[in-house]
Amino acid sequence: MKIVSLRLIHIRNRDDASYAPGEGLTVFTGRNGAGKTNLIEAVYFASIGKSFRTAQTEDLIRFGEDEGTILLDFSLRGVVHQLKARLSRKEGARFSMNDTKLRRKDLMGTFRTVLFTPDEMQLIKGAPQERRRFLDLEVSQVSPRYYEELLRYTRAVSQRNAALRQAQMRGTAPDIDMWDMQIASGAAYLVRKRAQAVERMNECLAGTEAALTDGAERLAVRYVLNQGEGVPDESWYLEKLAAVREEDARLCRTSVGPHRDDLLFELDGRNIARFGSQGQQRTAILAMKLAEAEFIRRETGEYPVLLLDDIGSELDAARRQALFAYLRRYRIQTLMTAAEFHGEGADILALD
Ligand SMILES: Nc1ncnc2c1ncn2[C@@H]1O[C@H](COP(=O)(O)OP(=O)(O)OP(=O)(O)O)[C@@H](O)[C@H]1O
Ligand SMILES: [Mg+2]
Repeated sequence: MKIVSLRLIHIRNRDDASYAPGEGLTVFTGRNGAGKTNLIEAVYFASIGKSFRTAQTEDLIRFGEDEGTILLDFSLRGVVHQLKARLSRKEGARFSMNDTKLRRKDLMGTFRTVLFTPDEMQLIKGAPQERRRFLDLEVSQVSPRYYEELLRYTRAVSQRNAALRQAQMRGTAPDIDMWDMQIASGAAYLVRKRAQAVERMNECLAGTEAALTDGAERLAVRYVLNQGEGVPDESWYLEKLAAVREEDARLCRTSVGPHRDDLLFELDGRNIARFGSQGQQRTAILAMKLAEAEFIRRETGEYPVLLLDDIGSELDAARRQALFAYLRRYRIQTLMTAAEFHGEGADILALD
C-alpha cells in the first residue's frame, strides 16, 4: 500500500497544498511550527478517521474556515484509489472512497498506516488502555469484523453500566441479562482474536527486534487477562458476569471482560516497564511498530504506510540507521518528519 499523492485544503496551517511522496522514505523538514506533524496527522486521519493529537475533528480545520478537505490517492495491488475526508465544523468528518460514501466504521482498514511518535512511549509507560488501543487498532485494520464487534461490545458495556446506575437510583434490581449475553459473546470473540494476534506479533517481533539490535535480547508480548486463564469462552464470561453482578451493581461498573485486560512487554521474560532502560523501551516500541507493519503485511498481503513523527528525539543514530536499512530492505513507504535531515536515500520535502 503506497500513497501516490496527498492534497490538503484548509487543513491546519495549509491553505491548499499537494505532495507526492516517493515509494521509499520521504522526509518532511522545516522549522518548529512549519506544519510537519500536521501533515502526518492528516494522513493518519485519512487512515483511522481520528487524530492522534486531538479528539476534536474541527481542530484540524484551518483557522477562519468552515471546512477542510484531505484528499489521498493510494495504490493497493496496483490499483489507485482516492480517499476523501471532508471536515466540517457543523457536521464533523465525512469520508468517501472513489466518490462512494464510507461510514467511519468502513473506513477502518481501507488505507492502513502504522504510527510512531514520541507519545508512543505511553505504550509501555502508560495505562493499560493505551496498550488495548494499540492492539485493537492493529487487529481492526486487518479485520472489519473485529472492529464491528469491538464497537458493539463497547456499547454493550456502557449500556450495562448505565442500567446498573439507573437500577441503583431507583432502588430496583438491575435488568441486564441481555447485556450480559451480548458482552459474553463479544468478549469471547475479542479475546480469541487478540490472543491470535499476540501470537502472530511474537513471530513478527523476533525479526524486527533482531534487525534493530544485535539480537542479544528477546522481546515478547503477552496478553494478560484481568480474570481467568487461557482463552475463556462465552459460557465462562456468562458465569463470571453473573458471579460479579452484585458487586458490579454496587459499583455501577463491569469488572470482567477484555476492556479490563492488558498487554505485557517482556524483555528476556521480564516486564520492560519495570526493568528496561529508556533506550531499551524506545527500541522495544519501535520493534513493536515494525512488527505491527509486518503483521499487517502477513494478514493483508501489503505493508501499511509507516508514519514517523519526530523520531530524531527518540532514537540515536545507530538505531535510526538500523531502522532505515530495515525500511529500505522491505520497501516500506515511510513519511517522516525532522527539523533537519542529512542522510542518503530519502526524498526531502522542505516545508516553509
Ligand atoms: N487549525 C489550524 N489552523 C491554522 N493553523 C494551525 C491550526 N492548528 C495548528 N496550526 C498551526 O500549525 C503549527 C503547528 O504545526 P505542527 O505541529 O505541524 O508543527 P511542526 O512542524 O511539527 O513543528 P515541530 O518541529 O515543533 O514539531 C502551529 O504554528 C499552529 O499555529
Ligand atoms: Mg511536530
